[in-house]
Amino acid sequence: MKLKKLKSLLCAALALTMVLALTACGSSGSNSTSASDVVDANVTSASDAAEAAGLTTINEGKLTISMSADFPPYESLDDSGNIVGIEVDIMNLIAEQLGLELQIDDMDFDSALLAVQQGKSDMVVSGVSITDERKATMNFTDSYTTAVQVIVVPEGSDVTLDNLGDQLIGTQRGTTGFIYTEDDYGSDHVIGYDTYTLVIQAVLNGQVDCAVLDDSVARAYVAENPGLMILDTEYAVESYAFGVDKTNTALLDAVNAALSALIADGTVDEIISRYISD
Ligand code: ARG
Repeated sequence: MKLKKLKSLLCAALALTMVLALTACGSSGSNSTSASDVVDANVTSASDAAEAAGLTTINEGKLTISMSADFPPYESLDDSGNIVGIEVDIMNLIAEQLGLELQIDDMDFDSALLAVQQGKSDMVVSGVSITDERKATMNFTDSYTTAVQVIVVPEGSDVTLDNLGDQLIGTQRGTTGFIYTEDDYGSDHVIGYDTYTLVIQAVLNGQVDCAVLDDSVARAYVAENPGLMILDTEYAVESYAFGVDKTNTALLDAVNAALSALIADGTVDEIISRYISD
């Protein structure tokens, strides 16, 4: 009797394992992306390649990245809800080269930074500017582009870089724009929002006098929202890189190798110029 019970328990467990294995096999589709067909076709040999390269990630066979998809043209949601943009295209190519399936987790920027520090993502990919403070909590890849923090105002506003300290400034919480303006002008002058969509709305509604954010992203929002303009002055100049789990230096090296090849052969520039015309 006891043995029978044990047997049926074992059978149930075995059946469950098989179902789980099947489900896992079926879920190889990636979040969005042009390169996903290629990734899917190569998924078996690809994860063998990752194994051969000695890469361990938080979810086996996957490259899990955290991002805040409110940052066009680097990452944003298209009309069908897919995450698209410069960094998505770059990461699809890198994941493919590493033999890993790209898994994108969308969240607010603060949480995206935290995720990589807490081992909940392998990388934070979110237009992250390299800073010394952040270097203490994550490893940065090589930088692949630069950006400038600029000031967005309603048309006709008299805000300037010189009188910024007298204004109420909207920023995304946790960003360099947020940190620098708080440091420079005090927290009474700065409101941190979860997303840039909310920051821009606040400027449009007059809840804040201006916003501080990254130049290409500012241009994308201003193009979509009549009545706003960008001041012709630079508040800060920065370099973007990907933040990698500090405990995973093998991943850092592998991503850097793939990234530097994509920079060297012009692919990164080609991707950027597809989204940004200057
Ligand atoms: N470059 C700025 C920073 O590193 C802003 C990045 C915000 N990224 C985003 N996807 N919302 O702090």
